Amino acid sequence: MHAFGLDVTRKDEVDLALAALPEPWSRIDVLVNNAGKALGRDAVHEAEDRHIDGMIETNVRGLLHVTRAVLPGMLKRGRGHVINIGSTASRWIYPGGATYCATKAAVAALTEGLKMDLHGTPIRVSSVDPGLVETEFSLVRFDGDRKRADEVYADMTPLSAEDVARSVVFVAGQPAHVNILQVVMLPTDQSSSSMVHRRPTSGGTTRA
Ligand SMILES: NC(=O)c1ccc[n+]([C@@H]2O[C@H](COP(=O)([O-])OP(=O)(O)OC[C@H]3O[C@@H](n4cnc5c(N)ncnc54)[C@H](OP(=O)(O)O)[C@@H]3O)[C@@H](O)[C@H]2O)c1
Repeated sequence: MHAFGLDVTRKDEVDLALAALPEPWSRIDVLVNNAGKALGRDAVHEAEDRHIDGMIETNVRGLLHVTRAVLPGMLKRGRGHVINIGSTASRWIYPGGATYCATKAAVAALTEGLKMDLHGTPIRVSSVDPGLVETEFSLVRFDGDRKRADEVYADMTPLSAEDVARSVVFVAGQPAHVNILQVVMLPTDQSSSSMVHRRPTSGGTTRA
């Protein structure tokens, strides 16, 4: 294993770090664009600038920085797979989530567009788009407010990071002629952004 820290929002840092990778790690076969965040749950006109900027910088520009740094090598070697972690937020817009949803809609557009840009090459492009996954995501979104973060996953069974990873492995493990473009995965307890089945204490169907 070769691990290193990287701020995807900093193009110069991304370019330098990837150019400095030692062998054999410099030959990247699978890029999983996972870095991303939601910040706040406020209306667009009331949200903090740092929240709006943080989401766009990380979820869109960061993904572009890393992808653009990795793709030339993949094209040169004639093999590679870009797997973007999108979200059901790209299709289900919810109040207070407009900017986050917009960034994930951008990820969906980049996935589809990149597949076209790479048409005729062996490079594959996919997205894995989960619904509710219990990670640090909500804690980050609510600036460390544990109670508010826990409420997101209360009385239901969310996806785990392992569930999402299993889909990524499935997508990456297909034969070279198979390109899964998109995987949409939900907890069984979730049917839309606003339909989450909670039991037994709060019961019924409530907002996420
Ligand atoms: N959790 C959900 O319900 C859910 C649903 C759909 C999609 N997603 C997507 O899943 C992906 C992973 O999120 P998660 O749920 O695992 O949340 P998480 O636990 O907060 O993890 C986010 C990861 O992104 C990294 N990251 C954030 N900003 C970065 C930056 N500028 N440069 C490099 N790395 C950065 C974080 O690193 P540090 O810890 O070092 O900051 C962390 O490893 C995101 O793209 C998110 O939008 C999550």
